[in-house]
This record gives sequence, C-alpha cells and structure tokens, in this order.
Amino acid sequence: MCGIIGYIGKKNASKIIIESLQRLEYRGYDSAGLATLDGKDLYLCREVGDLQNLINTIQEFPVKGSLGIGHTRWATHGEPSKINAHPHTGRRDQVAIVHNGIIENYEQLKEKLIGKGHKFKSETDSEVIAHLIEQYLDNGAQILEQAVLCALMDIKGTYAIAAVSKKEPNKIVAARCGSPLILGVGDNETFIASDTSAIIPYTRKIVFLEDFQVAVIDDQGFKISNINGSSVNYNITEIDWDVTAAQKKGYAHFMLKEIHEQPQMVKKILNEKLDFKNLDLKIDELIKIKSQILAAHQLIIQACGTSYHAAMIGEIIFEYFTNLHTDVEISSEFRYKHFIAEQGSLVISITQSGETADTLVALKKAKQRGLNTFSLCNVVGSSIARESDSVFYIHAGPEIGVASTKAFTAQLFSLYLISIFLGALKKNIKPELKNSLIKDLTYIPSLMSRVFDVENYIARCADKYHEFRDFYFLGRGINYASALEGSLKLKEVSYIHSSAYPAGELKHGPIALVTENMVTVCIVPKSVTYDKMMSNIQEIKARKGKVIAIATEGDEQIKKYADDVIYIPEVQEIFSPLLVAIPLQLLAYYIALKRGCNVDKPRNLSKGIAVD
Ligand code: AGP
Repeated sequence: MCGIIGYIGKKNASKIIIESLQRLEYRGYDSAGLATLDGKDLYLCREVGDLQNLINTIQEFPVKGSLGIGHTRWATHGEPSKINAHPHTGRRDQVAIVHNGIIENYEQLKEKLIGKGHKFKSETDSEVIAHLIEQYLDNGAQILEQAVLCALMDIKGTYAIAAVSKKEPNKIVAARCGSPLILGVGDNETFIASDTSAIIPYTRKIVFLEDFQVAVIDDQGFKISNINGSSVNYNITEIDWDVTAAQKKGYAHFMLKEIHEQPQMVKKILNEKLDFKNLDLKIDELIKIKSQILAAHQLIIQACGTSYHAAMIGEIIFEYFTNLHTDVEISSEFRYKHFIAEQGSLVISITQSGETADTLVALKKAKQRGLNTFSLCNVVGSSIARESDSVFYIHAGPEIGVASTKAFTAQLFSLYLISIFLGALKKNIKPELKNSLIKDLTYIPSLMSRVFDVENYIARCADKYHEFRDFYFLGRGINYASALEGSLKLKEVSYIHSSAYPAGELKHGPIALVTENMVTVCIVPKSVTYDKMMSNIQEIKARKGKVIAIATEGDEQIKKYADDVIYIPEVQEIFSPLLVAIPLQLLAYYIALKRGCNVDKPRNLSKGIAVD
C-alpha cells in the first residue's frame, strides 16, 4: 500500500506535502517523492529509502509552487529505488502522477506506448498512467481531466491517483478505483489524500471519494463526477479525531504507545457501548440489522493477518454465546472459495484499515451472493465500512505502528460485546448470565493495566532470548489464535522465524525441531487444558528446549518446569486472550528493540494491504 497526497492553496506546497507524507509513512516507506508546479515550471524531487532523505534534499534544494502532489511507496512492481519512486512523468515531462494500486494490464499498455515512441524510465506499472495521459493530451484532449478519464478507461486494476500538468498549473485531477482516496476541504485550500490522518491538522472536513469517481481541484474549489462524466452528490463529513492521538506522546515508538493505550481504549469502548446502570449494551449497529441477525442460522467471519486471528477467537466466542454455527475464513482464500452458505447467513468482516483488498473483494462477493454483511472497522469512512450493511467502529484511534496491537484487542473486546449482545438477543443466554458476563468485562481494563506490572521482566526475557533464531508459540482452545498472533508479532518486528501450533499438535511432528536452540512460548493460563499444557512443557524440557510460560498469577507449579514465567491476572478462560495479547506484544517489541529492528516500520511491510 502506498500513500498519496495533493495540495492546492496559498502555502508552499512542498512543506504541506512533506508534513502529510510524514503522517502517511506507515502506508509504505521504500521511497518518497513530490512534484510541485510554479506557473509552468514543474519541480520533481524523489529519494529512495527513508522520508528523511527527501526532506534533506528539499531543504538543500527548495522547490516553489503552491500546488503539488506527493507519494510514499510500498514497492509492488520494481524494486525500491529513486527511479521507481513516484511521482512519475510522461515522455515529455508534461504530466506528473502519483498512484496507489496495481495496474494489471500495464505491460500491454506499455508495449503500445513504446510503439508510439514513448520511452519509459522506471520498472513500475504506475509510470504507464503518466504516459497515457500525455498521449491523450497529444491526441487532442483539451483539458487534463479529459485526458485522465481517457487513460483510466484503458486501465485494468486498482488505483488512487493524482495528476498535474504543466499546461494547467492550477489544477489537480484525482480519481479512485479500489484504493482509498479522500478530499479535504480547507479555507482557500484543498487536499487530496490516501486517508484522513494525513491532512487532519489542516482540515476536518472530508469528502470520501467512491470508486469510479473523479475530482477536479483548482484554486476556485473542486467538483466531483463519475468516470462517465455524470455529476455526483457528495457529503462533507466532519472528522472528530484527536490529532495528538497520532503522536508518540513520549513513547519511544508508536508500537509501544499503542500497546500501552489498550486498557484506556477498552475502557472507552465500554463507556460508549455500555449503560453501566442496568448493564445494558447499546449496539445500535446491530439493531440496524436486527431482522437479518435473528434470521441468520450461520455466521461467517472473514479477515487477514492479525484481524484473522481476532476472527478465529470470534468464531469460538460467537458459538459459545450465540450457539450459532460460525465459520472463519482467511479473506484471500474466501474470495475464491465456492462456499456453501445458507441464504440469510451473516458475513462479518474484521479489518483495522477498512481497505484490505482481499477482505473488500470477499465482502463484495458475499453481497453478490445475497448474504447480509456486517463489519468491524477502525478507520471511519473506509471502503469496507461503506460497503457493509452495517459497521461497528472499534474506535481504537489511529494505529500508526505497522504491527497491529491495540486494534487487535479492540477487535476482540468488540467481539465479546457483540456476541454477548447477540446471545441475549437470540435468547441463548439468560439475563442474569448476560449481566454477569458484562460485569466481568468491566474489570478487563484494570486487569489489562496490571499486566504492565511485569513489563520490565518481559524486557529482561527479551534480553535473554533475543539471539535465538527459532521460536514456537503453543496454545490450546481459544488461545491457539493467541499463539498465532504472538508468532506473527515476533516475525513482523524482530524478523525471527517462528511458528505457532495448537499444543496438542506438538507430538505430531513439530517436536522434531525442539532442541536447546529452540524457545517455546507456552500460553498456559488456568484452564480446562492446563494439565495437558503442562505435559507439553515437560515434553519440551525433556529435549532441552527453552520455555517461556504465560501463566496465571499465583501458579507456583509452572515455575518447576518453565525457564521463565510471565504472569497475568486471573480471568475466565473465555476472556483470557484479552490479557494474553499484551505480554506477547511486549515480548515481540522488546526482542525487536534488542535486535536493532525498525519497530514502527518493519522491512517489507506496510500498514494496510490495499493491493491484491
Ligand atoms: C498485523 O500486525 C499486520 N500488520 C497485518 O497482518 C494486518 O493485520 C493485516 O494486513 C490485516 O489488515 P486490516 O486489519 O487492516 O484488514
């Protein structure tokens, strides 16, 4: 996923663009660049690597102009390099564009354009767009938007683009299909950006562009039309985000800040969704689709990555509280699957960004099958949120760290509230049980806070084990998904290879790898499978493997077998993933730190995968 930004107003465009790119860096950070127009002069500046490289160049060679576009890249076609950095220009450097998405037919288009004399400078798919637009201008298109529309008709794939032309130095043309794009309405200035976080310090008035919409922005304002030219009615949404929420607030990294925000965040969700006086849940998002829910005999939860691990836990808690048959699917598989679902089934999509391409496509296919859809999203107004029949915003606040932490526990906590609400709605749980479960959930924020009492101990564990090259994560029941999530966190930020298994699988093969060089993180809270987990730990110790146990406070027996024990407060097993997540996140963070990794911007990753 890449980040794009465009600006037209009275200020120095490069300053606004750089500041915005700093807030878009989490979408990709292989390279960055900008183009500004000052009258008919086009200034282009691009650098590979960290955004700071571009900032340094602009400081040394300032660029003029109060109109410009910028880009921060996550490479899909063509390695991270200066020549592959955006913006790209056409053959006569008349037009500059920035692009987020994938042009699936770029090779055929490139071949045709080369046949017409175009010479390409980069290995990217995106550069084709600039050449196409210039070709249409050469062929007689009178104005930039006309050339852009013609170019978009040739393209197959996904795009969010912004284009500028020397011939019309007071105009930006932007369009989207499959990649997010918003328009910011300022005082005598207008912005175009991949997401709200980029421009919220300048304006809170946002227009969410839809697929196949084109925005023409100039110094008089903007107009939005469909790709076929018909005009579009649009709404201006006032965003109420707290700008400081996206700052580090004294933490060394966004990831650590976001890990620490979790107790307060869960408390905020409770305050918004619970009437504490009579322990009633207020989930209007479900009331909106109450008839569909009551008619549903099957739930299908679909997601990717960390959100998929939340979905796995969701499957268990939905079946537990609602007694509804629930399936869980990885979106990239689900979108191609010939799945059998009863009419009236409810498809639940879980996504932090609300832009994950696989999840969005799978959602659209479910809708085409006539299924009802409901989503849990963090980003307001995101594509998946707007595509769903109803959306539950988890309100985790901006999650800047690429490795998802607080969004994961916000998803989990929301799933607990939703499943208890549904269980009560379907009369599968009696009022007194509902009240008791909700009362238990009101203690979760303080229990989560108590986990941080052992943070220094976890940091010492990281010191002790950060040089090991192989980790296993084992869990049983609801905490098998916790093990998968712990394994993903470690891989993502510390680059250590790790695998996760249901602990019962250890003896069916994985134990072959256990030696004194393997560290196994065992999730072994007080539970119905505690004794089985203890047997697994002894099997590992018998082969000299190292064991870090995540166990319940007061459990003295575990100390006899595990090399290190990270204690969490006692909680019902069904709720334990909410607490288990924190030590797993902290362990991954501190090991990555010890290994000198870039915790907030891990190599090869980006925050949301809005490309297939
Ligand atoms: C999580 O740490 C990863 N960054 C990644 O797996 C992420 O969860 C996945 O790409 C899904 O993103 P989404 O929740 O925005 O759909």
